[in-house]
Amino acid sequence: MTLPTAQSGFAPVNSPLLTPGHTGPVHAPVPERLKWWIDSRFGVSYHWGAYSVAARGEWVRSAEEMTLEDYQPYVEAFSADRYDPASWARSAKEMGADYAVLTTKHHDGFCLFDSQLTDYTSMNTPARRDLVREYVEAFRDAGLRVGFYYSLVDWHHPDYPAYGDRQHPLRRDESLKGVSHDWNRYVEYLHGQVRELLTRYGTIDMLTVDFSYNEFVGEKWKGEEFVQMVRELQPDLVLNDRLGNAVDGNMKSATPPPWAGDYDTCELNMPHGRMLNEQGQAVPWDLWITHTNTWSSSDDDQQWKTPGDVVKCLANCVSKSGNLTLNFAPTARGELPSASRELQSEVGRWMRQNRESITGCHAAPLERPDWGRYTLSQDGNTLYAHITEQPFGHLTLRGLRGKVRNPRILSTGHQAIIGDFWNLGIQAFGEPDDIFLNLRSPIQKTYLLPDPWNTVIAMDVVPENEQQAEWNKVTIDPLRRVVF
Ligand code: GLC
Repeated sequence: MTLPTAQSGFAPVNSPLLTPGHTGPVHAPVPERLKWWIDSRFGVSYHWGAYSVAARGEWVRSAEEMTLEDYQPYVEAFSADRYDPASWARSAKEMGADYAVLTTKHHDGFCLFDSQLTDYTSMNTPARRDLVREYVEAFRDAGLRVGFYYSLVDWHHPDYPAYGDRQHPLRRDESLKGVSHDWNRYVEYLHGQVRELLTRYGTIDMLTVDFSYNEFVGEKWKGEEFVQMVRELQPDLVLNDRLGNAVDGNMKSATPPPWAGDYDTCELNMPHGRMLNEQGQAVPWDLWITHTNTWSSSDDDQQWKTPGDVVKCLANCVSKSGNLTLNFAPTARGELPSASRELQSEVGRWMRQNRESITGCHAAPLERPDWGRYTLSQDGNTLYAHITEQPFGHLTLRGLRGKVRNPRILSTGHQAIIGDFWNLGIQAFGEPDDIFLNLRSPIQKTYLLPDPWNTVIAMDVVPENEQQAEWNKVTIDPLRRVVF
């Protein structure tokens, strides 16, 4: 197999940052259609549907074991009368996201689109329209990539087994014991609805199916046929991994099944490094997180993550060659909570100033520093230090003496300083190939981070043949402003 070198979104196998004689991490080859997705690094999702009226999360029907009749008032109250997808798109764009995913149908089976295969849609609520169409148009107009979330699980369809299921709302309804289900009819429905979604709205960039469990996995969904259909209808679409699961095989398996999907989803679960498949090769992945703790509206949940949390989390993902998809929970009437709009605008301010340290970047072949994270540009020529902890004095760039130069604060373009430690002679400190970085000179002083969430310093990576000369140039504080 030929290994990709400076492949999109992945660290070059041979980087001048590596100790000579060492090679960087090996990456599983990825198909061309994934390139934009890997490069984008940042997207949004929205969980919105009849459950938004209950405002107790999208699992409310299951959690409270409601019958369809119990749930019907929420369907009937779903008005969407404040839905303005153009404003969702504007704030997603302002935040710096490149793609969006909307719940076209969640586990409750309620559809936000005008399906010919069921009446259980927004067409038959006070909303009376195809909300997916409006979303697609608005997001496409705003220049964002458009994705659909579609639930494999369906608590409304009569052919989806209810009694004894792991999470069906009627799982304990004894009257349903022994009731037979025509599973093939359900699978046809599922394939049919996805066909509708992928044929009626033009180019669709992503499909997020959700989710597999117990025996409901892979071929139970007619996974191979499903993927064939998806690839036929939308050849460039990026597909997630949830037709499979970790037990029955997914894209991390030694021989991924045909329905493995294109990337690994980490739901609310930050990996501690690159995501590796069973052969030890790094694979693309995406962290899905919520703004509060709930995917859809929940009035009891006020655990809002702050813009700083998100900015740090995003840098953390990219430092491990992963993406971040941040979820928002619109109100039942269709507006984003003001906390979400504020967060989007604050994160957007950071992204405008620091985007180049995120978009198209990937893991650097360096150990994680104790003051933050590193990301590396696509071409491997620019190293970004994401400083997320206020340093006391300068901070150490371990092993980078002679390997980086021209440090600057990315948000302002102002000079930063790389130099030696002023009293290296008196204090045993660091390793000979360590070097020290600070925002200003004298470098042993403490300067408050201009951006306390994450101040990014960009540095040029020195080509290998110039590293010795660069090493020799390092002096005690290059501006010579040493104070005692
Ligand atoms: C889970 C949940 C679901 C949510 C999804 C997001 O699978 O069932 O409610 O939509 O994760 O990744």
